[in-house]
Amino acid sequence: MDLIARLRAGLPGEAVLTDPDVTGSYARDMASFCAAGTPAVVVLPRTVEQVQHVMRTATELRVPVVPQGSRTGLSGAANASDGCIVLSLSKMDAIIEINPVDRIAVVEPGVINATLSRAVNAHGLYYPPDPSSWEQCSIGGNIGTASGGLCCVKYGVTAEYVLGLDVVLADGRLLTTGRRTAKGVAGYDLTRLFVGSEGSLGIVVRAVLALKPQPPQQLVLAAEFPSTAAACEAVCEIMARGHAPSLLELMDRTSIRAVNAMTKMGLPDTTEALLLAAFDTPDPAADLAAVGALCTAAGATDVVPAETPAESDLLLQARRLTLTALEQLKSATMIDDVCVPRSRLAAMLEGTAAIAEKYDLTIGVCAHAGDGNTHPTVCFDAADPDESRRARASFDDIMALGLELGGTITGEHGVGVLKKEWLARELGPVGLELQRGIKGVFDPLGLLNPGKLF
Ligand code: LAC
Ligand code: ZN
Repeated sequence: MDLIARLRAGLPGEAVLTDPDVTGSYARDMASFCAAGTPAVVVLPRTVEQVQHVMRTATELRVPVVPQGSRTGLSGAANASDGCIVLSLSKMDAIIEINPVDRIAVVEPGVINATLSRAVNAHGLYYPPDPSSWEQCSIGGNIGTASGGLCCVKYGVTAEYVLGLDVVLADGRLLTTGRRTAKGVAGYDLTRLFVGSEGSLGIVVRAVLALKPQPPQQLVLAAEFPSTAAACEAVCEIMARGHAPSLLELMDRTSIRAVNAMTKMGLPDTTEALLLAAFDTPDPAADLAAVGALCTAAGATDVVPAETPAESDLLLQARRLTLTALEQLKSATMIDDVCVPRSRLAAMLEGTAAIAEKYDLTIGVCAHAGDGNTHPTVCFDAADPDESRRARASFDDIMALGLELGGTITGEHGVGVLKKEWLARELGPVGLELQRGIKGVFDPLGLLNPGKLF
């Protein structure tokens, strides 16, 4: 029996898509310049048993499987390979439980991040991880790529909120990892292993997530700086003095201008760097005043605290739109997410500016400054072969600089196909060998998301 017939034997008709015009639309995520193949079929299971059926079939017939959430990823990790089964978890989108006593939510992987956020808010609870794509991205995708976001400087990344998982393994067995308790140290931490594994070890079909009490609404301050170095000095001062901002973001001049051009928001576009700091403390105005004074001492020319949550939201919206705005500048962009120790942030930004100059390119930068996590975005004309070559070379230089400064090639977008060669450089031969060994334990036939990570 062929693949499609075998899949149909355990899945409802509408869950198996074979029309090439439709399956083609599942070929890639949002990363540019990453190879993508043509899927043989797209499946949209609704139950754990159906996912098990897909994986058993894939194993019997030796067909590769590419798991997908909402395809908002930025490293090509969800890109199809030729002849694969695309396993979309988007129809498994139930919030199974929200438990205010245990402070957990139990969800299926296709739940959209913003949907979960709003649902837990209604119980006075908070699910912090907030990637910019939070209105589209799914929790399964967030787990697969260990997503970050804007609030991580205070609340940490996705990994810190995943307590337990149900995972369908390559051969169809169901594995339960972790716990729904506040503590738990029984055995190796397989839960953590799956977070950021980019669909290479198993299919997450259910997650137990930790929740926090909902903090007061945050207020944002915007500070203008005459240089990115001065803005980075303010970041270091804010963190060194023990402040706990719920957000600390930086936009450079190119980013500010791009957002203004796209949205007419009227951000101050003669400034070199804009720092956004927020507090969700009981007295955010007092915290903003203290941080505003530190910004002024570091050279800020203007410090403007938002007076209302609506004003704060507008500033955050500007920040969240930065990458979309930079994409309008040229026909193509390559978005990086190198993360350095925050004490090296100034060096990272200065080095990035030097790289832009060396290759005569526009590289706009926004950054989760409080995390040292930068998004240098190379904007170039893809139809110009020389500019494309320089863009790729600059991208490599940016990652080399990140490693040189004691950082990592990817703070939050993952490796996918975009950074495969660089993962080997970051891990070193011993690290790489052990990681490959782990992959072999979970997926001995190499069927899960082949060609990604390594
Ligand atoms: C952001 C995403 C791209 O920070 O990581 O907007
Ligand atoms: Zn980011």
